[in-house]
Amino acid sequence: MSEPVLPSFPDDFLWGVSTSAYQVEGAVSEGGRGRSVWDTFCETPDRVFSGQSGAVACDHYHRYPEDIGLMRDLGVGAYRFSIAWPRVQPEGTGAVNAEGLGFYDRLVDALCEAGITPVATVYHWDTPQPIEDAGGWLNRDTAKHFAEYAGIVGAKLADRVPMWIPINEPMVTTVYGYGIGQYAPGQFLLMDAIPTAHHQNLAHGLAVQALRAAGARQIGSANNHGPVWPATDGPADREAADRASDLINWLFADPVLAGTYPESMHPWLPPGFADDLPTINTPMDFYGVNYYEPTQVSAPSEGNPLPFDLGEVEGYPMTTNGSPVVPDGLRQFLGQLRDRHGDRLPPLQITENGASYDGVDDQERINFLAEHLRSLRLAMHEGADVRGYFVWSLLDNFEWSKGYQPRFGLVDVDYDTLRRTPKASFTWYRDLIRGEH
Ligand code: NOJ
Repeated sequence: MSEPVLPSFPDDFLWGVSTSAYQVEGAVSEGGRGRSVWDTFCETPDRVFSGQSGAVACDHYHRYPEDIGLMRDLGVGAYRFSIAWPRVQPEGTGAVNAEGLGFYDRLVDALCEAGITPVATVYHWDTPQPIEDAGGWLNRDTAKHFAEYAGIVGAKLADRVPMWIPINEPMVTTVYGYGIGQYAPGQFLLMDAIPTAHHQNLAHGLAVQALRAAGARQIGSANNHGPVWPATDGPADREAADRASDLINWLFADPVLAGTYPESMHPWLPPGFADDLPTINTPMDFYGVNYYEPTQVSAPSEGNPLPFDLGEVEGYPMTTNGSPVVPDGLRQFLGQLRDRHGDRLPPLQITENGASYDGVDDQERINFLAEHLRSLRLAMHEGADVRGYFVWSLLDNFEWSKGYQPRFGLVDVDYDTLRRTPKASFTWYRDLIRGEH
């Protein structure tokens, strides 16, 4: 296979890698950590592939110095990690666990020492179990508790962490966690899950304010986005695609960027939602996009409580995780974002992009990344103001309900020995960062 040729990026473009706490840390019973919804979900029969869990994961909690060494070899400018709320506040509210906070304090110091910019996600799906027991994201109070937690981590780390992301992919928590039950907390509420979107959006706005008050300089987001394609060009399918995009994309982008919600979502939102929109719309310093794949839908079949039928994107190569590889979807979505939000948009970061492939000679991942970067470069030529790109992920890790089977890492993890082995894509990304492609 020939080496893909890449367009060049601006000199100050930020190259990074991403992970999240529950997917890499392990050590779930150490350091005074409380339980999260994912501990509970993984213990529930038949929820996660082969009964697996993040109990050990990559043991990043103990091996972070080695992982920072790998990032130094890779030459990345930034590391995006997440902070586990149940490590910091084991009960989700009240008492702060100094040992939990101390872990992130050491991690951040070690990153700074290695010359790698820490980018902290405050919440990547690991809700403290007591918060869930009180209603989780269905309960408006969770937004208030979350802001308190964000203030705590901000006060400890904002002197050294320049970039902050309050909530990772709230759409996934709403749709997969509360809508169709595939992720923790495993509820099946369909459209009645939508209040969890509003409460997460409110939590985002309150956390932006709490982080800013704690001295955080650059605060953004990490929303999962992609174009939604109609199965045919017919009006019913096109209408379904617009409604699906309202749910997947605009339910999360519009309120934080414009202080509005898509009209079609209004009936499902909690009463009085409009009063919260100014808070949700607190200005941000960057807008983060996680891009993986487009979605295809058609008009809802009879009896479907959703405003669309989910289809399959066909005619593209697939990753081992069953995702279609559609690099142009990134450019398409960035165009839609610009059309919809134009001058309101702060600078963008691609806070996640990546794919699952097997093996350490992972030429498919190299092609995946190269093609997505080419699509990104084109989007930038078309006017998207993108300042950075983070590969998901540094390491193979716990891919939620799919367990350890999908391998997203630039670095292979042997789950018996926890040995790390850089893959071909690691060397390729290193050379890209060095400007050698
Ligand atoms: C996005 C999520 O933020 C991350 O947790 C997940 O592992 C990747 N997508 C890959 O599916």
